[in-house]
This record gives sequence, C-alpha cells and structure tokens, in this order.
Amino acid sequence: MRLDKDTIIGWLREADEARLAELWREADRVRRERVGDDVHLRGLVEISNHCVRRCGYCGIRADNRKIARYRMTSDEIMGCVREAMVFGYGTVVLQSGEDHGLTRDWIADVVRRIKGETELAVTLSLGERSDEDLEVWRAAGTDRYLLRFETSDRELYGRIHPPLPGRGSDRFAILDRLGSLGYEVGSGVMVGIPGQTYESLARDIELFRSLDLDMIGVGPFIPHPETPLGSTEPSPALLSDEQVPNTEEMTYKVVALARLVCPGSNIPSTTALATLNKAHGRELGLMRGANVVMPNLTPPRYRASYEIYPAKACIDETARTCHICMHGRIASIGRRVGRGPGGRKHAKSPS
Ligand code: 5AD
Ligand code: FES
Repeated sequence: MRLDKDTIIGWLREADEARLAELWREADRVRRERVGDDVHLRGLVEISNHCVRRCGYCGIRADNRKIARYRMTSDEIMGCVREAMVFGYGTVVLQSGEDHGLTRDWIADVVRRIKGETELAVTLSLGERSDEDLEVWRAAGTDRYLLRFETSDRELYGRIHPPLPGRGSDRFAILDRLGSLGYEVGSGVMVGIPGQTYESLARDIELFRSLDLDMIGVGPFIPHPETPLGSTEPSPALLSDEQVPNTEEMTYKVVALARLVCPGSNIPSTTALATLNKAHGRELGLMRGANVVMPNLTPPRYRASYEIYPAKACIDETARTCHICMHGRIASIGRRVGRGPGGRKHAKSPS
C-alpha cells in the first residue's frame, strides 16, 4: 500500500472505531506476511545515565540534579550479557545518555568482549557520537545503532534539542553515516510532543519509508516534571486542533502506519507504550504492527535512575521477572518467541 501524506493524516485523525479496526487488521496482516509471528527479544542494558545534553523532554538531561548518576562497569555489563544468553535473547542493546565518559576505546572493548564470548547481535544506542566513534564501534563488531530523529519539524527539533556549544545536531546526517558504515539503522519519533502537528507527524512517517529504516521505534511523549516540557498543559503555540495528542491510541496509529510504510522493518512495542497501558499496551502494540520487544536487563539498583520519563513500566522488576512476563504476554496473543539475532530479513530497497 503506497500511503501518501494526506492518507496518513486521514488515519492519524481517524476517530471511527470500525475504521480503526481496519487499520489494526491491515497492519497485523502485513506484519504476519512480511516478518512472521516471531517476536524478537532484545535485552536492554541501560549502561549509563550520565548525559551532556539538555533535551527538553528527557529526565536524564544534564540539568536534572535530582537523579543519582551511574555508569556500569564492563564486568557489570557482561553480567547482563550472560543473562541475555541464559534467557535465549538474540540481541543486547547498550543504551545510555550522551556520555563522553563512555570513551570510544572503552565501548569498542566492551563490544569486542561481547562478540568474543557470545553469538549475540550488539546494538548501541549512545546518542549523537562522532564519525570516528561510530567507525571504530562498527569495526569492533557492532551490528546495529539506534538514534531516533524524534521529529522532522526542524523548528520544533531545534527548540527541544539545544546543541552543545560549537556543535550542530543533525541526526539525519548521523543516520546516513551509520548506513554507509554498514550498521542496521534504527530511528523513530515520539508521539505527541508539545508543538507536534499532524502534518509534521505524517512527514515523519513518510521519512521512515524514504530513510529505508531497519528498525522503527515509536512511543508516546510522557511529560517528566524535571524538564522544560514537563508541564502537562497543551502547548500555547499550537491550535488544539493541530496538536497531536500523546495518547495510547495515537501511538498505535503510528506503529500501524510504520508497519504499512516499512513492511519488512523490525518494530518494537515500546516501554513508553507499556507505561500508558501497563495491563495490555505491549500486547496491543504487537497486535497492531510491532514484532519486537525489549525486556529490560538493567540491574535493579540502577533502573530507577534511568528515568527518562516518570512511572516507567518495569521499573521495580528484575531481569528474570521481565523475562517471564514477556514470554507470558507473547504466548497470550498466540505469537512465539523468535530465535537468533532477528536482523532485518528483507533486501534494502534500491536507492
Ligand atoms: N517521554 C517519552 N519518550 C521519551 N524519550 C526520552 N524522553 C522521553 C519522554 N519524556 C525517548 C526518546 C529517546 C528514547 C531513548 O526515549 O525518543 O530517543
Ligand atoms: Fe518487565 Fe513485564 S516486561 S515486568
């Protein structure tokens, strides 16, 4: 299905339940046909919450003095990696704030250790890093990199991502660079950022297609009280009819449309979505286009400090409880757990 921007906007604005049921059905059909019933598990390790940036929405931004900062040791990370193996996961994702204490060589060593001791695919999600860092990490064996572009509206992007002095912030250039280095590339957006219009969200979805993303992560914007965007008041800059709501339903729409524009991509049912509906959010995401979940492996003593948004799902759980919980949820909707690294199956579209 070739969805154009107006059709995408039409779906984003759709309120009729019966019509929406068609969207869910179509996304689920395309998901089954193109990536099958396997749900791939990526074990998430939140390796550091230090961050030099001041993103307007993010709870681990540099200015938040209310959280205890931590950086895991490589032995602690390897402990989580071994758990991922025991649990049968195919991938570990190492995520952090933009932490320059995680040096190029140190990360490269950790990646080499993981690749030397396990068969796991390694995904990094460490923010906007230099070309040289990305090159060295790829050469060390990293398979994938995640960097959401958050919004394609340049004005809005600039407003919520103050750059570091003397350095621009061009995530599209980094995504391009990652692709040429041979990474599988993941990106995505938040849904319902104050100031985000239907028009710009539809453009984001079109960009998923033109960027030919291997992975697409989308979750609702959740206000964090210790951030500039933390107030729940709607943005005064936008007419309320233009503002995309940060709701569970709107997030399912974006997940479903992402599946339709990128039928072969790996799409997670995200923790932010599960945070809005702790009972069934994960499952509904998986039933409306998603085929990946990211159970959290971060040691419990660090979890609460990786509070990018409040009331995050699984914050009080252990790796084992998340593991068991995810298996139960996947089985409850008649899907099965995928084996192996679960990389992108389909050929890249010609560019
Ligand atoms: N609400 C929802 N998602 C958030 N992220 C960061 N802060 C928030 C928030 N307040 C998302 C961003 C980032 C990813 C790791 O987490 O999209 O890319
Ligand atoms: Fe963590 Fe359910 S996935 S408790």
